[in-house]
Amino acid sequence: MSRTLVKDALNATAPNDTILLQGWVRTRRDAKTFSFLELNDGSCLKGIQVIADSSLPNYATEIAKALTGASVEVHGKLVASQGQGQKWEVVASSFTILGEADATYPLQKKGHTLEFLREIAHLRPRSNLFGAVFRVRSRLAFAVHQFFQDKSFIYVHTPIVTASDAEGAGDMFRVTTLDVGAPPKNEHGDVDSTKDFFGKKTFLTVSGQLEAEIFATALSNVYTFGPTFRAENSNTSRHAAEFWMIEPEIAFCDLHGDMSLAEEFVKYLIRDAKAHCAADLEFFSKFVDKELMTRLDFVLEKPFVRCSYTEAVEILTKSGKTWEHPVSWGSNLQAEHERFLTEEHFKCPVTVYNYPRAIKAFYMRKTDGCAPDRQTVAAMDLLVPGIGEIIGGSQREERLTELREGMALHHLDEKAYWWYLDLRRYGTVPHAGFGLGFERMLMFVTGVGNIRDVIPFARTPGTADF
Ligand code: 4AD
Ligand code: MG
Repeated sequence: MSRTLVKDALNATAPNDTILLQGWVRTRRDAKTFSFLELNDGSCLKGIQVIADSSLPNYATEIAKALTGASVEVHGKLVASQGQGQKWEVVASSFTILGEADATYPLQKKGHTLEFLREIAHLRPRSNLFGAVFRVRSRLAFAVHQFFQDKSFIYVHTPIVTASDAEGAGDMFRVTTLDVGAPPKNEHGDVDSTKDFFGKKTFLTVSGQLEAEIFATALSNVYTFGPTFRAENSNTSRHAAEFWMIEPEIAFCDLHGDMSLAEEFVKYLIRDAKAHCAADLEFFSKFVDKELMTRLDFVLEKPFVRCSYTEAVEILTKSGKTWEHPVSWGSNLQAEHERFLTEEHFKCPVTVYNYPRAIKAFYMRKTDGCAPDRQTVAAMDLLVPGIGEIIGGSQREERLTELREGMALHHLDEKAYWWYLDLRRYGTVPHAGFGLGFERMLMFVTGVGNIRDVIPFARTPGTADF
């Protein structure tokens, strides 16, 4: 007999005389002649109520073992429930304890702090909150593919081990099989990377963009969706050392097309979550963030504001605020600035574009006609309330001379990027793309405030458990 998921049992349209449920006990209440078990199997937020009558053959010996956390199998009848708040319940004809959980099971009925739940990341998916988070995560990963596939974008798997620093920022994890205690040395006394596994220095990728550009200049519209690694020592609620990024790359597209696609994408994901994860979102808006639904609806309704970097700096300097990081033309916008723009000034998502060339990556397209001391590149960052930057993107420099200039400006070795330069030598086209941090998007959609709680097993400075 095949198993019915709790979700399907709860959504049944008719009673069912023979049903098999398998899951974990959330709670048990004993009455005089029967017990109520609430059974959850993770297929949805709610559990289903099971009634185990004391006339069942193993009731006397087994029911006491049905403690919170125990796994059970129930055969029985799905019948209309007499109780409130549920349409269906199951009257057991037999129940079997598959795996007991003793009283030390840490997920008891009382609420736990998120910090404590992080320490038991192997059990937290069994809690209401984390079940909901990871169902939404799964659904949105699917929606990412649906969005791009519907637009005929081609999914490209870019490498995880790489020899190039896509962002030119240097925050990379080294990949090596050399004996770190006694590495081979060359005649200058430096570590001899030619003896390493790949015959050169290699790292975990910080972005699939450069390889995505290769494919965009062949297949036109592509996207990547995969794990990304950054060795920056940022212990904040929105930085992880391992996170997932979605990177579309579009040939024959400029910055404006790029910003429009980013906005459409974010709205699509929110709409998808509302349509397919309604119960989970309702849970978040009750227990995590009371403003969640209002904020999501608000974001869906209005076009996002677009504001140039120069205008943004003007707004920030005229705001009368005292900043922890002083701001002037040329400085990087920090989280406090980003959040002021989106939360207090515009009170809506904002795309800031045309950033100073010196603070952005080498591959971004130089804006034509700038004053020499105010050179900008066609970069854009999408900022959302509560988080700040959720997307970073740009139009790419498709002109060989300007690209080489940009590389020199960032002290990059052209030899290492020979293939990237080739793309500008053979049939170059204007093209653009962006990266959406998947976890930041999940934080935005769920209202969960810490990136550690929207990824199954967080990797952050000092932690790589499980
Ligand atoms: O702005 P970033 O660094 O852009 C890129 O990597 C480009 N190559 C993307 C592209 O144009 N194809 O990163 C993009 C997004 C950020 O906006 C943020 O949402 C997320 O990735 N991100 C992080 N998320 C979690 N933890 C970190 N340490 C992150 N660093 C970036
Ligand atoms: Mg960025």
